[in-house]
Amino acid sequence: MDEKIKNFLVQIVGQENFTDNLIDLVSYSYDASEHSHRPLCGVWPATVEHVSEILKLANRELIPVIPRGAGTGLSGMAVPAKGGIVLDLSHMNRILRISIEDRLAVVQPGVVYAALEKALLPHGFCFPPDPASGKACTLGGNVATNAGGIKGAKYGTTRDYVLGLQVVLPDGRIMRTGSRTMKSVSGYDLTKLFVGSEGTLGVITEIILKINPKPSTTSTALATFDDLEDAGRAVTEIMKSGILPSVMEILGRETLLAINRNSDLKLPEVDAMLLAETDGYTREETDFQMRKVLEIFRKNHAKEVKEATTGEEAAELWKARKSAYAVLARIKTHFILEDVTVPMSRVADLLKGVNAIAGKYNLQIAAYGHAGDGNLHPQILFDGYDPDQVKRTEAAGGELFKLAIDLGGTLTGEHGIGLSKAPYMTLEHDPVAMEVMRSLKRMFDPNNILNPGKMALDE
Ligand code: LAC
Ligand code: ZN
Repeated sequence: MDEKIKNFLVQIVGQENFTDNLIDLVSYSYDASEHSHRPLCGVWPATVEHVSEILKLANRELIPVIPRGAGTGLSGMAVPAKGGIVLDLSHMNRILRISIEDRLAVVQPGVVYAALEKALLPHGFCFPPDPASGKACTLGGNVATNAGGIKGAKYGTTRDYVLGLQVVLPDGRIMRTGSRTMKSVSGYDLTKLFVGSEGTLGVITEIILKINPKPSTTSTALATFDDLEDAGRAVTEIMKSGILPSVMEILGRETLLAINRNSDLKLPEVDAMLLAETDGYTREETDFQMRKVLEIFRKNHAKEVKEATTGEEAAELWKARKSAYAVLARIKTHFILEDVTVPMSRVADLLKGVNAIAGKYNLQIAAYGHAGDGNLHPQILFDGYDPDQVKRTEAAGGELFKLAIDLGGTLTGEHGIGLSKAPYMTLEHDPVAMEVMRSLKRMFDPNNILNPGKMALDE
């Protein structure tokens, strides 16, 4: 890379916090998606001033900057599609404050999700979204991608907890948004604009998160179904029944087979399994809700209904569920993992449609996901060295998106647009909405230096 630029960057962050070693460039070239492209260099800023100086330099020299957390994203948002500087925020990893009386935590972007959970636990509090990658993913990435997780049905996604931010704009200006209050209607909601903006508008350097008292009791159960539609109907009925399960997950046959091959769980290998959790602040509250769930499972022809009897048993089930994507990924050389989301009453239609697409293109598509908020993860498993399978996979992916939109849904419930879904943005968003998004991007980042090539924002 250009020696002059390199020297400027070293002056800002110090020699030890700059890298253009091949091994680092290769590591920074990919995330958890199928995309990859090498950057020019990587830097580890330690302060908001570092981030600001780096952006001023990049804006002047017209070099792309790609903010990066743990790189667990599944849509290519952290991939340096146009080269440039990877801004690795993992060194900004301090929990700055936990204020139980104000019901909030102030964190830097590089704090790992699980580290915040651990710090909140002694206070009896939690940050609920619970992404499957919680052990590794960082909160800056959670905010930038509006990460979801298995608790979405009851507790929503990251967006519902972000009260305020400190953000560095592409020209280096530092801005604070939001407040430390539980409510505020002061001006445009700039905070929410940055949540889910995938590093295209600014770099998040501080986050104020609302936290919740952690429910003291939970109850976990599973139900198996021979008929997908029975499972779909059970979900719809539960969601209508006046209770709100904290988790309601669905796992298809292929997913159950893959989990069994990689664990000692011996899950029943049926067409559909529902995994439910209820929670509450008293045992009565939790059990009352679980009784309703079990009743509805049985009414909808569940073959087997089983409650976890110990906390360990429940923890094993959730661990297995969270491993679904990784154990499926081992089956073929390549995979594409989608996160299409539909109104909850259409979950059964989406599952049926996924099966039809798998049949039409003669592909192996495993399905599982967050039935309780309509968010499914069809995972297409294919041999990436077989051009014909690659072609069929692309066509099937396109059809899957079209199906979700036709069912009144969205391209992505939690993994984001990034590179993977950029070509499909106009399926969901009308030309006016696309133009408004592009205008916003131009206003914040007229030189298009921040994470260029993502979200179909480049004309
Ligand atoms: C999950 C990830 C893939 O739900 O979103 O397992
Ligand atoms: Zn998910």
